[in-house]
Amino acid sequence: MNHYADKSTVKPLTVNDLAAMKLRGEKITCLTAYDASFSALIDKVGVDMMLVGDSLGMVVQGHDTTLPVTINDMVYHARCVSNARRRAFVIVDLPFMSYTTPVVAAKNAARLMQSGGAQMVKLEGARIEVVSFLVDQGIPVCGHLGLLPQLINQLGSYKVQGKEPADAARIIADAHQLQQAGAGLLVLECVPAELARLISDQLSIPVIGIGAGLDCDGQVLVLYDMLNIGIAKRPRFSKNFMQDAATVEDAIHAYHQAVKQSHFPGTEHGF
Ligand code: KIV
Repeated sequence: MNHYADKSTVKPLTVNDLAAMKLRGEKITCLTAYDASFSALIDKVGVDMMLVGDSLGMVVQGHDTTLPVTINDMVYHARCVSNARRRAFVIVDLPFMSYTTPVVAAKNAARLMQSGGAQMVKLEGARIEVVSFLVDQGIPVCGHLGLLPQLINQLGSYKVQGKEPADAARIIADAHQLQQAGAGLLVLECVPAELARLISDQLSIPVIGIGAGLDCDGQVLVLYDMLNIGIAKRPRFSKNFMQDAATVEDAIHAYHQAVKQSHFPGTEHGF
């Protein structure tokens, strides 16, 4: 059957479905997606969520950082992904400087939802006032703590966060505040596995890890890294799923199964 033929009969997952998965201990799978063809393939395999990440600035546009990505870029790629999506939950990043105030954030998030088809928007850092305002306007929000790529010019390099006790304590406190402000999901990037485990246990919302160990409620990877087609060196926390796969679909399937069965990430992918 044509992949698109039965679009009307398949319901997209909701934030409640994801919360229920956490409650019953089912791991949540997520990959980044930036276009319709990969979106259709990821969706067909049964991956639970697609993140239209501003990582597209690096892997699609060829920039050194995510900073040049604009809200127009995000709307365009979100639309491409949403057009081919049937079941997977679609989250779209608010790019650098697109959430400087609650009102600016709401206007940009509305574009991602109305024109881009986003079901939820993601923003970096403990921007509690912004998150609370968006949630009040009916905009579902995913927080993002740990390594924040939009702060690369302050951080100096893409390094593990939360190794020092004071930093770990701040990340834990921020995670609780984001949940209290109404965030429906949290992404934890590049933090020690033990810290991610603690946060995943303490929060009631699903925690999705990238470079954050096995004990998060779900995992996300940048698609081009796990297919080994990125132009930059693959990060240590990622894995080349093409290595033992005959096709791209097989590689995505292997990732999906490895996460569902808690076989990925291994200790060698963590900190
Ligand atoms: O932009 C992105 O792809 C992301 C993931 C690395 C979580 O935010």
